[in-house]
Amino acid sequence: MMIPQLSNTSVCMKDPDRVRDILVSMQKAGSNTLQVISDFDMTLTRFAFNGKRCPTCHNILDNSRLISDECKLQLKELLNTYYPIEIDCSRSVEEKLPLMVEWWTKAHELLIEQKIKKDALALVVRESDARLRDGYKFFFDHLHEHSIPLLIFSAGIGDVLEEVIRQAGVFHSNVNVFSNYMDFDELGVLQAFKGELIHIYNKREGALLNTGHFRELRARPNVLLLGDSLGDLNMADGVQDMENILKVGFLNDKVEERRQTYLDSYDIVLIKDETLDVPNAIIRFLTGQQ
Ligand code: C5P
Ligand code: MG
Repeated sequence: MMIPQLSNTSVCMKDPDRVRDILVSMQKAGSNTLQVISDFDMTLTRFAFNGKRCPTCHNILDNSRLISDECKLQLKELLNTYYPIEIDCSRSVEEKLPLMVEWWTKAHELLIEQKIKKDALALVVRESDARLRDGYKFFFDHLHEHSIPLLIFSAGIGDVLEEVIRQAGVFHSNVNVFSNYMDFDELGVLQAFKGELIHIYNKREGALLNTGHFRELRARPNVLLLGDSLGDLNMADGVQDMENILKVGFLNDKVEERRQTYLDSYDIVLIKDETLDVPNAIIRFLTGQQ
């Protein structure tokens, strides 16, 4: 393989020849035709660290000092109810979709009741266990240096994820974010969430609402997509005149049950890989550096 990291033990591919063909054709087209579209939670951030689960954007707030003990219990209950459904591969998307909407809606209602202050977010993120995957600095810096647009498409909370990447020093000018943003009143207190809810299974609709963004990137028909859930596969549905897409999926949890489904859906599956080593090697290859 022209990318040695594709032989890492965490890497699984159903069709390595196809992966090679896509990579060659994307490299030939040049990095000025490339755009990267990535999920945030559990894709750019770690799933676990030292044997402990790492928080999602929502969990950063759930576990913070901004939330009362009673509300923490309620949010924990929601997580214990709905997360197993999210990762249950014996249920169809049709069956899961309304339940996911229910989860996001109930959680957002609880967060709004807590009267969260906008100016407390930075501190709460700083105090959290949020962790970008190892190699994040190269990932963000290299894309920026090569003027490759990075769209972070997240069903998490935009204000929180922006703060995570800002504090890590990698919120560069080539980064755009589609996510759920908080709406604060004139006193800076959370009163609602803006716009259409983005949850784990409506990224297609989210993409189609943002045609302006994809129109601007029309000259970049080659896409590197990074995700960790099957809903992330739809993040590129708004891309215009797509030529090639390479889909890289992190399989973090319920590995054995979901392995085949992931292999059938993602071109490259990274199993319990907490690093960005493989995406970084791909980016290096596509920008002509070995
Ligand atoms: O698509 P993305 O990875 O950004 O999805 C957000 C993640 O946030 C989901 O995988 C879900 O497990 C998690 N979540 C959460 N608390 C909620 C709603 C979603 O931790 N209230
Ligand atoms: Mg995710």
